[in-house]
Order: sequence, then structure tokens, then C-alpha cells
Amino acid sequence: MTISRRHYHITTFGCQMNKADSERMAGILEDMGFEWSEDPNQADVILYNTCTIRDNAEQKVYSYLGRQAKRKHEQPDLTLVVAGCVAQQEGEALLRRVPELDLVMGPQHANRLKDLLQQVFDGNQIVATEPIHIIEDITKPRRDSKVTAWVNVIYGCNERCTYCVVPSVRGVEQSRTPEAIRAEIEELGRQGYKEITLLGQNIDAYGRDLPGVTPEGRHQHTFTDLLYYVHDVPSVERIRFATSHPRYFTERLIRACAELPKVCEHFHIPFQSGDNEVLKRMARGYTHEKYRRIINTIREYMPDAAISADAIVGFPTETEAQFENTLKLVEDIGFDQLNTAAYSPRPGTPAAVWENQLSEEVKSDRLQRLNHLVGIKAAERSQRYMGRLEEVLVEDQNPKDKTQVMGRTRTNRLTFFSGDINELKGKLVKVKITEVRAFSLTGEPVEVREIVSV
Ligand code: SAH
Ligand code: SF4
Ligand code: F3S
Repeated sequence: MTISRRHYHITTFGCQMNKADSERMAGILEDMGFEWSEDPNQADVILYNTCTIRDNAEQKVYSYLGRQAKRKHEQPDLTLVVAGCVAQQEGEALLRRVPELDLVMGPQHANRLKDLLQQVFDGNQIVATEPIHIIEDITKPRRDSKVTAWVNVIYGCNERCTYCVVPSVRGVEQSRTPEAIRAEIEELGRQGYKEITLLGQNIDAYGRDLPGVTPEGRHQHTFTDLLYYVHDVPSVERIRFATSHPRYFTERLIRACAELPKVCEHFHIPFQSGDNEVLKRMARGYTHEKYRRIINTIREYMPDAAISADAIVGFPTETEAQFENTLKLVEDIGFDQLNTAAYSPRPGTPAAVWENQLSEEVKSDRLQRLNHLVGIKAAERSQRYMGRLEEVLVEDQNPKDKTQVMGRTRTNRLTFFSGDINELKGKLVKVKITEVRAFSLTGEPVEVREIVSV
């Protein structure tokens, strides 16, 4: 390998899964002797880890790629890689569109990056998109944060929501073993990480594909069992998880969250629509009444719990009245945060070819009205923090005010307060909240907690 091959740059689009995959691929590249370059134009290997959840996410990738493909004409030994969900969706077609590409690799192949790159360096152009059994990664990820870390627990998704491209690009559900997950968290604890987020597209499906059934006929390794199994890893102070599916969310899981002190009081449970007819057409498998019951039960066990979700407006055939049912759900529940999106038809999904697609005008009008309500409700939810003492795990400096640090409450509210990042990074600080905004808080530090590891 020549010296000019020594730097890499990764640009990551999309969800937490992609971020986690990028960290693992960066780890592999470093293991191969590459160094991170902040500037993509100085890099010898450029990797785009892509997202195709909506059309605008996909288009963004093409505009980035176009620029680097040009560069390749002046610098032929530049290696161009497209990984992630656009790679999986487009496969060979990507090579026809951007012939300068060296490697197109789907998300299931992330852990094979070294192997694939070696084939590229031998002079091949590679497309790796066939479904495979995801191998455990033995390389250490290069994690962006020193405080918080992602831990995959289940890959893929077996649902068939009629709007969603994820099952076709991420493949079928594959759970990691509880032992592998615990070992990774223990290693994170030893490295000083204070917070972990367990990841899965449908985390409630965890364990269904692992062998073992209890005498009561329950899968032996449910997600709830996994929480009990990993909750006491020394030095890790906080455990989060995402994403939950209302169809499989159980009271047993809620009880576990209430019972286990490290599991934070924040639930991300996408509802997508507040209308039963739309939910049916989305093939979500629950009603808005069931969703409301879940939230009520969470609030019975943990009155202060934060609730966030995802919602889609303008799904094909959605009427004004049906959209108003989504507004009503948002009004009634009072989400702390809501990710909203206008429906975007995706290749290969059933809803994309239905008649009665709504116009962009209707979709964007509904999106604006929903976002307006979300802001109002989030601001209301923030009010409850005023004057309270909150435990904040310090992650970073406030990029907009270097005299401040920032972190999150257990309920996931972003919080700023004055302090020195060198002293406070990774510390749990009791902060008195003095200012509240819709999606963030400001406060004064009261006490830095000495962490006695348990
Ligand atoms: N597995 C999670 C989230 C998957 S994708 C779940 O089941 O909820 C993240 C979010 O993107 C979804 O919750 C949904 O709100 C949104 N989304 C997915 N497909 C979409 C599409 N075709 N158009 C608009 N938004 C979409
Ligand atoms: Fe997509 Fe539905 Fe799977 Fe979520 S549960 S990833 S929305 S198919
Ligand atoms: Fe996007 Fe793939 Fe995640 S499509 S949202 S990066 S699973």
C-alpha cells in the first residue's frame, strides 16, 4: 500500500443504525492503517454511508457523489465507496449511474469492509448486496463520542409497513446474542462510556430469531430479558433504547424500565398516524386506542417519562379528517419531541404505486400544521422542568457558546449550562433549570456527582 493511500473520510446520512455502522467501518479502516481526514478532498478512500428512507435523502447522495466522481478523473487512485441503504437499493444500477465507483456495499456487509477493500485494491470493482448472515465484528469501532455509544442488538426488520423501504434494504431480523451484546457493553464500561443506546429498527423483535422457549411458551430472549441481563454492567450509568413498535410493546417492558435504575425514562415509539383507517393501510397492526393505552401505562409507572415518536403526513388517500386525527393524537398525548415527515413514495413499496397519491401542496401544508402543533406541545412539556433539579450527563461543549457545556437529562432534553468541558465531560451534574425552550433547557450547575461504580 502506498503512502498516498493513507487517509479516509466517511460521510454518514440517515439513522442511528447508519451512524453505528459508520463507526464500525471507521474502526476497520483504522485497523487497516488508514487515518481519518476531516476534509474529504484530502482523503484517499471516501465512503458514503447512505440513506434512502425518503427521496430527498437519496438525492442528496447523488449530488455528493457527482463531485467526488469528477475528482477521480484527476486522482485515479482515489477509492470511492457507497455503503448503506442506497447501495443496497440500487446495487449494480449505481455503477451504471456513477461508473467511477469502486465499491457498492449494502448495510449487511459493513463488517466485511476490509475484505471488500482488499478486492478493490487488487483491481476489482465490487458490488456486495447479497443477503448474508451478519458476522460479529472483532474490530473496535471508532466512536464519535467518548461518553455515549450505540450498541446494535438486532439488525433488519421483518415488518411490512406499506410505505417503508427498510425491510428491503436492511434484510430480515438478525439478533445478536445476549453474550455478545453484554461483552460489548462491558468493554464500553471499561473504556469509560457512561451511556449506551441499544439499537434496532424494531427493538421489540429482539430475540425472536434466537433459539430457546420458556416453559410458558415465551421466547427466552426477549428485549425485556436483555435489559435485565445487561442493566448492571459496571460504570455504565444510563441505558437507552430505540426504536419501539407499538404492536409489540409490552407492560413487562414498561415494568422493567421502571424497575431498573439505569434505564432512562424516555420512550421513542413511532405512531405514524392517529387514524385507524390510515394505520390499517400502513399495515402497522395497531389502533390509535392501543397506542394511547401504551402511553397511559407508561405514565402510570413513570409519570414524568418523556415520549417521542415519528409521524407521517400525506400518506396516499389520507383525507383532511384523517389528518386531523393525527393532530388530535398529538394534542392529546403531548409529545416531548416528534419527528415528522411528508410521505415520500419509495421504490418497491406497495403504497408507492397506489392511486390517490396526494399533491406536494397538500402534504407540505399538513406537515407545516403538524410541526406548528408539535412546537407548541413541546414547549408546554418543557415547562415542567422550570426550577427543577435535573441530572445532566455532559457530552460536549455548546458549539454556539464555548463558555457552556451541553448534555441531556435522563428524559433526553438537551440542556446547556456554564462550565469547562475539560473538567466536566462524561460527568453527571445536578443542574437547576432556569430557562426552558421547546426542545432545550438552560440551567445552573449545583453539584457534580461523584460516580461510584456499581
Ligand atoms: N423502525 C422504525 C423507524 C423506521 S424509519 C419504526 O418502525 O418506526 C424512520 C421513520 O421514517 C419512520 O418512523 C417513518 O416515520 C419515516 N418514514 C419511513 N418511510 C417513510 C416514507 N416513505 N415517507 C415518509 N416518511 C417515512
Ligand atoms: Fe419500516 Fe415498519 Fe420496519 Fe419500522 S417497523 S423499519 S417503519 S417496515
Ligand atoms: Fe435511512 Fe437506512 Fe436508516 S434507509 S433511516 S439509513 S435504515
